[in-house]
Amino acid sequence: MDGSMPMRATESGDPLTFEGFGGVALAAESWGHADRPAVLLLPGGGQSKSAYRRAARALADAGRRVICVDLRGHGESGWPSDGRYDLDALSQDVVHVLRQMGSRPVVIGASLGGLAALAALGESEVEVASGLVLVDAAPQIDQEEAGRIKQLMHEYASGFETAEEALEVAHRISPHRPKPKSADRLREHLRTDDSGRLRWLWDERFLSAINADTMAVRLEQAARGLKIPVLLLRGESGLVTSEATERLQSLLNDAESIEIAGAGHLVASDRADAFNATVLEFLERRAPRSPERFTEGSDARTLRNALGCFGTGVTVVTTVGEDGPVGVTANSFTAVSLDPPLILFCLSGKSSSLPAFRSAGRFAINVLHIGQQPASNAFAGPQESRFASVKWEMGKLDVPVIVGSLATFECETESVHEAGDHVVMIGRVKSAIFEPRRDPLLFFRGRYRRLHFS
Ligand SMILES: Cc1cc2nc3c(=O)[nH]c(=O)nc-3n(C[C@H](O)[C@H](O)[C@H](O)COP(=O)(O)O)c2cc1C
Repeated sequence: MDGSMPMRATESGDPLTFEGFGGVALAAESWGHADRPAVLLLPGGGQSKSAYRRAARALADAGRRVICVDLRGHGESGWPSDGRYDLDALSQDVVHVLRQMGSRPVVIGASLGGLAALAALGESEVEVASGLVLVDAAPQIDQEEAGRIKQLMHEYASGFETAEEALEVAHRISPHRPKPKSADRLREHLRTDDSGRLRWLWDERFLSAINADTMAVRLEQAARGLKIPVLLLRGESGLVTSEATERLQSLLNDAESIEIAGAGHLVASDRADAFNATVLEFLERRAPRSPERFTEGSDARTLRNALGCFGTGVTVVTTVGEDGPVGVTANSFTAVSLDPPLILFCLSGKSSSLPAFRSAGRFAINVLHIGQQPASNAFAGPQESRFASVKWEMGKLDVPVIVGSLATFECETESVHEAGDHVVMIGRVKSAIFEPRRDPLLFFRGRYRRLHFS
């Protein structure tokens, strides 16, 4: 289905299923072309994806690929036989979905869906999403209001005789919302059980599995670990106060916060237009659809960002200077030729180590393993702390080598080429040793990374 096709706002998307934690089937719908930048929508507890169709539609119309997933035990998703609705299970579901999506979407999580996303993204060692929008979700929730809603949900666990009765309860849960004249729309959120009674489309067991107290500490820790841009969207809800939002914002590295006036806890349906506009503005700014472009003469930062898309390993290049060993962190290392055995690296013309590399006639490339990130930092930092921070020895060519590196190439300088603001040093490999069992330290988009096996 193409996202540009006109459709009614509440029409469903294309159905698809993900396998969640413990094999629970998670029902989802998608909108927009698969090539477009992705958004993953996670409804809150007691909600299902049908409540997010307007938002999904608007995002797809604005050029996004949108996938909306029912939480376990909600909507059309499976109900786990073991009753696992704890934060571990919910956040693992998010991790499972992200793995199966195979892209790094912006995740929009409402209420419980937002908390599951916060745990999943904040606790992940690798970056699995490119942004996060938390809709009325924060580690600290107002206990009194939460108790009131839970109580109302529990009271009607045995279901309703009529949809009108259910409408009455829905109104008691969100009294600020104008009560619809008919219960027609609400029927989408109800199912008929074996005895003919109407019940909500969710498993009541999830209510007792959620423990806000124990979750808060863990979620605050997860928030501190998030490096991606975060938007905190709040309705004028009694469940998540402005103080709770401010506290969460202070824990996050890169967060902005917006309150949508006139919306309650169900922000996306209470003020659909304001919700869609705010989310779209954030997406366009922080997760732009179109690729960024560098043209010669424009700023070097954009070129640097473009070059940063090429993931590399990290090396420390070493040689000897007049006053002893010299070394610099460099990721510009490349294989050049097998016969003769040639490699190269590029050193800044401003490098204080350049004179030593020019005159020594030999150098070593030390390829770093995942445990050598401190060495990478040291050799990109002040001179005095470089060799003092590692174990090193003189190698076969009488150049300093860092002991225990993933690989070390000892080279004689073959040629030196001036190239713009850098100097290309080509070396002939005289000897190389390597460690076959360790993982490399990686560098991508200005950050250290590790190998990730999915
Ligand atoms: C991951 C990483 C890769 C780097 N790659 C290079 C490189 O290829 N060439 C370069 O000249 N500087 C590179 N640098 C920067 C130098 O390590 C850094 O500027 C260092 O302080 C230079 O020291 P110097 O003045 O002794 O040469 C890199 C830094 C890091 C953290």
